[in-house]
Amino acid sequence: MQDLTAKIISLCKRRGFIFPSSEIYGGFGSGYDFGPLGTEMKNNIKLAWWDEMTKKQDPPAGGIVGLDAAILMSPRVWQASGHLTAGFADELVECKGCHKRFKKDELTPHQRTGGGCPECGGKLTEPRKFNLMMKTSVGPVEEEAATAYLRAETCQGIYVNFENILNSMRLKIPFGVAQIGKAFRNEITPKDFIFRTREFEQMEMQWFCRPKEAIKYFDFWKKERVEWYLSLGIKKENLRIKEVPAEERAHYAKQQIDIEYKFPFGWKEIEGVHNRGDFDLSNHSKYSEKDLRYFDEETKEKYFPYIIETSGGADRSFLAFICDAYQEIKGGRTKTTEAVKEVETLLKLDKRIAPIKVAVLPLVRNKPELVKKAKEVYQLLKPHFVCQYDELGSIGRRYRRQDEIATVFCLTCDFQTLEDDTLTVRYRDTMKQERVKISDLVNVLKEKLQN
Ligand code: GAP
Repeated sequence: MQDLTAKIISLCKRRGFIFPSSEIYGGFGSGYDFGPLGTEMKNNIKLAWWDEMTKKQDPPAGGIVGLDAAILMSPRVWQASGHLTAGFADELVECKGCHKRFKKDELTPHQRTGGGCPECGGKLTEPRKFNLMMKTSVGPVEEEAATAYLRAETCQGIYVNFENILNSMRLKIPFGVAQIGKAFRNEITPKDFIFRTREFEQMEMQWFCRPKEAIKYFDFWKKERVEWYLSLGIKKENLRIKEVPAEERAHYAKQQIDIEYKFPFGWKEIEGVHNRGDFDLSNHSKYSEKDLRYFDEETKEKYFPYIIETSGGADRSFLAFICDAYQEIKGGRTKTTEAVKEVETLLKLDKRIAPIKVAVLPLVRNKPELVKKAKEVYQLLKPHFVCQYDELGSIGRRYRRQDEIATVFCLTCDFQTLEDDTLTVRYRDTMKQERVKISDLVNVLKEKLQN
């Protein structure tokens, strides 16, 4: 199945979804850049998540507000959060022969107990702790500058703003705060394309609730988050929940589940749901010497709210959506003409996530009236939808090019268009075609894309 990963990486590069970072310099630290289509698609994922959090939720999950906190925060934040200590470190072993480094928990028990390096069979060093925080210096003169850290999780920005948000928005618990942003970890072994990188984007929501309601909300959010992936088209059989046992949990978690996706390289976490208890607010209270307890007007009690966190990766869900949508059809799907011998690729992304919604195609490009008409239609639709105009190659080839990048509708201007101002709307998944009046197009497409 590694083959499938290679095909997806190739498609992503060829069609402008994802490029290796700093490629002309030979790449950099397994970083990646999102290309024109990747940017549209990632924005769509983030928007779908944002809408889900801030618009959809009703009681018992109600009132989720947004935040966009700074990446660079006081280093004391990371002392209080436990990230500068052993809690946020991987165990690293190095091969004395080839000097490659490995995460201890990625080695087989045999390799771990002296079996040797997975690459060259050489002897491995004893494991040592390696902290994952990315260091930088803040200030104009490096020697005098203060050490700071790039945030390793976005949620800390939410905790340190708990009081600000509570007071400015006059909220009562339970309520949530959602945030999307970059996070950084000095991963020992970045790998599997964009699955594990040193710079990535998180979509995190922190739900503040009464301690005695934490278990109830943990279960609620666990279900909601799985539903979200399913609602955006992820196949049920490719998603599962892993209950994380106490010894494997993150240092802050009282309860933890991982939502795992069946990638071509195995079942892997795409999102975590954590009951963080009062770990964060009580530690930030202690370190900042600010009382971050909440006064509950109903019960007349003062306490640290418990936090249920949903923490997903925008990059990992991007990869899961692409893997899930990727299909190859031998000989092609068209039955009206002789089977095309080549393999056809179809990316069946949910219409909300697909980067291009509409492609406008003149049937042939050597008829100026058709080209002119198609260009007019493109100009008409461009302000409303992410569109492409394409006139190169046979119409069948152009349909296949659009299917490969998940374009939801292909609109073709043909000879009838010149007579009655209608064109064909072709559906990506069924290849069904229907004629629509150009004057109705914007409304018809809007409706189709919404429902
Ligand atoms: N605030 C909790 C937290 O950060 P996590 O399980 O360490 O929890 C949450 O990370 C999510 O962030 C993961 O499920 C994954 O989607 C994403 N993530 C974490 N490390 C990553 C990395 N190195 N590369 C890409 N995504 C990563």
